[in-house]
Amino acid sequence: MKSGGGETLIITDSRTGKSHELLIEHGCLWANDLKHIKTGENDPGLMSYDPGLLNTAACKSTITYINGEKGILRYRGYPIEELAEKKSYLECAYLLIHGELPTHDQQAEWLEEINRHLSVNPLVNTLVCSFPTSAHPMAMLISSIAALSGLNPEAKNVTDTDSRQLQIVRLIAKLPTLAAWAYRHKRGLAPVPPNRELSYAGNFLYMMFHEDNKKEAISSVLEKALDILFTLHADHEQNCSTTAMRIIGSSLADPYLAVAGAAAALAGPRHGGANEEVLRMLRQIGSKDKVASHIKRVKEGEERLMGFGHRVYKNYDPRAKIIKQTAEEVFKATGVNPLLEIAIELERIALEDDYFIKRKLYPNVDFYSGLIYEAMRIPTDMFTVLFAVARVSGWLAQWLEFLRDGEQKISRPRQIYLGRGKRHVPD
Ligand code: ACO
Repeated sequence: MKSGGGETLIITDSRTGKSHELLIEHGCLWANDLKHIKTGENDPGLMSYDPGLLNTAACKSTITYINGEKGILRYRGYPIEELAEKKSYLECAYLLIHGELPTHDQQAEWLEEINRHLSVNPLVNTLVCSFPTSAHPMAMLISSIAALSGLNPEAKNVTDTDSRQLQIVRLIAKLPTLAAWAYRHKRGLAPVPPNRELSYAGNFLYMMFHEDNKKEAISSVLEKALDILFTLHADHEQNCSTTAMRIIGSSLADPYLAVAGAAAALAGPRHGGANEEVLRMLRQIGSKDKVASHIKRVKEGEERLMGFGHRVYKNYDPRAKIIKQTAEEVFKATGVNPLLEIAIELERIALEDDYFIKRKLYPNVDFYSGLIYEAMRIPTDMFTVLFAVARVSGWLAQWLEFLRDGEQKISRPRQIYLGRGKRHVPD
C-alpha cells in the first residue's frame, strides 16, 4: 500500500496473520486502500461499514469549518459572529461561492445580477397554483425548483463555467420569489412581483406580505433580523441536505434538480423541521411556572427538550448566541412573544442542571429562531422554506467545489448483502 514515507497505520489481519500498512492523510485512511486487505484471490477485499456516514469524510472542503467541542463556525475562515454583524447575507453568499468577500465593485455587480434574475416565469406559478392549499409549502417549493430545470435546458452543461455561474445567480435570486409564491398560494393570494428597490430580505418580506392599495414600509429591524438568520443558515458543511446536493450533483444532474433534491432532504423533521417542534413544545408548556415540571419529564426520558443538543456542537451553538441577541432586537420592535419568557426560563434551568451539563446539551440554532419567525408573522410551516432560501448558497458552493474536485466521482456506496442466496422461481 502507498506509504511514501508519510504517516501510516499498520494493522494485522487476524484472518491471515498478514500486516498491512495504510496511508494516513489529514487524519484519514483512504477507504479504497482497505480493498487490498484480502483473505484470498476471490475475496473482494475489506470495506468499511458506516451507516449514517458518522465517521466518513466524503470530500476535502475549503468552505465551512466547524469545531463542535469549542462552538466554532466559520465560512471561508471568517467567524460567523463577525459575518453576521458586519456583512449581509448576499455578501456571505458571494463569499461561499467565490471564496472571498466581494470588493466594492464586485458587490455592486453581484447585487445587480441577483436583482436582474428575481422574476420567475409565470408558468411556474401555474404549477404552484395546481397544489391544494392544504399542501405543505415545501412540496410546492421543491416542485417549482425542479420546474426551473425544464425552463433552463442549458443548465445541463454543468462543465460550462459560464452556464454554471448563471444558474447559481438564478437560483439564489429566484428562491425567495418561489418561497413567497408558495406562501401566498396557501392563503389564496395572487403573487406579488419582486421589488428591486429593496434589499434581498426586504424584498422577500414584501413579496410575502404586501397587500394591494396599502403602502406599508418594511420594518428595518425585521429586515435586518431576517438577513442575519439567512447568514446563519447559509452553510453548515456536510449535513444531510448538502450531502444530498453533492450526491445528486455527482451524476452531473443540473443544479435545479440537485437543489430540488437537497431541499427534499431538508424537508424532514430530523433536519430542517426542528424549529417548528420548539414552538409546539413552548406552547404545550404554556407558562413559566410549568418549566420545572417539563424539565423533570425530559430528565425522566419522557420527552426531549427540543432546540437543545446537536450531533456536532457539544458546546453552545454559536448561531444560537447570535439568534438570541437578534430576538431581543426583534421583540423591541414587535413586542415580546409571550413564549420567550418560557424559552429563557427553560434555558436558564437546563444550563444549570447536571443532566444537561453532563451530556453537553446546549441550545442549538433552532431554539430561538422559531420565536423570531413567529414575531415576523411567518407561519410555522414556512420555517423550513426559509431555511431552504438561505441554504441554497451553501448547497451551490458545495456543488461547485464538488465539480472542480478531481478526486470526486459519481457517488456509489457499497453494501453488505445479507439476503437469500441464489434460488429458483417455482414452476
Ligand atoms: N433533550 C433531552 N435529552 C437529550 C436531548 C434533548 N434535546 N438531546 C440528547 N439528549 C440526551 C439523550 O437522551 C442521550 O442521553 P443518554 O446518554 O442518557 O442516553 C444523550 O443526550 C445523547 O443523545 P443522542 O441522541 O445520542 O445525541 P445525538 O447527537 O444523536 O442527537 C440531536 C443530536 C438529534 C440534535 C438531539 O440532541 C435532539 O434530539 N435534540 C432535539 C431536537 C433538535 O433540537 N434538533 C435540531 C438540531 S439542529 C439542526 O438540525 C439544524
